[in-house]
Amino acid sequence: MFETIEAAAPDAILGLMEVFRGDANPNKINLTVGVFKDESGLTPVLESVKEAERRLLESETSKSYLPIGGLTDFNRQTQQLYFGADHEAVTSGRAVTVQTPGGTGALRVAADFLKQNLGSGTIWCSTPTWPNHPKVFKAGGIEVKNYPYFNADSHGVDVDAMLEAIRKMPAGNVICLHACCHNPTGADPSVDQWKQIADAVYERGLLPLLDFAYLGFGDGIQQDATALLEFARPDAELLVASSYSKNFGLYSERVGALTVVTSGSDVAKTAESQLKTTIRTNYSNPPQHGAAIVSTILNDADLTAQWDAELAAMRDRINGMRKLFTQKMSERLPDRDFSFIEQQRGMFSYSGLTPEQVDRLREEHSIYIVRDGRINVAGISQGNVDALTSAVATVLAE
Ligand code: LMR
Repeated sequence: MFETIEAAAPDAILGLMEVFRGDANPNKINLTVGVFKDESGLTPVLESVKEAERRLLESETSKSYLPIGGLTDFNRQTQQLYFGADHEAVTSGRAVTVQTPGGTGALRVAADFLKQNLGSGTIWCSTPTWPNHPKVFKAGGIEVKNYPYFNADSHGVDVDAMLEAIRKMPAGNVICLHACCHNPTGADPSVDQWKQIADAVYERGLLPLLDFAYLGFGDGIQQDATALLEFARPDAELLVASSYSKNFGLYSERVGALTVVTSGSDVAKTAESQLKTTIRTNYSNPPQHGAAIVSTILNDADLTAQWDAELAAMRDRINGMRKLFTQKMSERLPDRDFSFIEQQRGMFSYSGLTPEQVDRLREEHSIYIVRDGRINVAGISQGNVDALTSAVATVLAE
């Protein structure tokens, strides 16, 4: 029977990792998947995480199953970290959080939950968006449509086009927004623009689903929660699919959360019962270790301060590389403006490289970039920036 199966296309991002691994060039450069790298090209385990693991090793008494919705304390800490402990959505009990296997798991649980309980037929994604977004939503049975987001000339958000599109979306549709550090462009709306977007979304009767995977990688934890807090208005309903892969460096532990903010605590309890049904029929219950690390850190003031400093160091390194890359590119191609790279935020920048130019960089220089031109700025280092900017300038100049 299996002979009839057709091969699937490799994943646009993770597929490139496999090709990169097979490249024998010792000077190869990987700017593909969104993982943080330090100056030596390693993705380190944070010291705060190591310390939490030491404590867990001592104190853990059981590997029995977690509840279907995950570690209760992790879910509580997640709400407090994102909204603030005193936020009305938290204190009223109208928000419910379940632990999920990574941010992708949160998106899939959200898609199944929306389809099965609200019959949600359509979700709107930005053009461009993370290539896995439409795939996950379609796998959940939801039709995906697109709204304009990025202005290739200004390298920023085309907020007018976005608002115009929002004002035409049918009430009851879901809109997926990147709450900070837009993936793949690195272009985020300003504080004022987020207010206009939230006004338009709620005036139109849409349900916002915020993808919140890069908290702390833009300007800081509080600053990066601006959009989330703008949407969490009194009585407003929203979903937040979040990840601890990047900001705690817990990629392989698969730690994420789905938060559903409802109109009241009774509604939240009912929603939670359905979220549990979705989870039970997908993966039964989530893994413990990563969530236990996050909750150990967030329950201890010293560990939290240590983690915060480590997160700031990751953010500062990325922003430093943005600056360095911009400066080196401007030296190599003085007639072109690369300042947008410095202004964009998070791990990624949309470089403007065409798929053909990306192919040339891979084939002729062993430089790996996602084919849509997205570069992982965290993969740039003092050691590779000269080779990188020289190759990019060569393909751009031709
Ligand atoms: C990325 O966009 O590179 C990351 O979110 C990792 C992934 O799963 O694609």
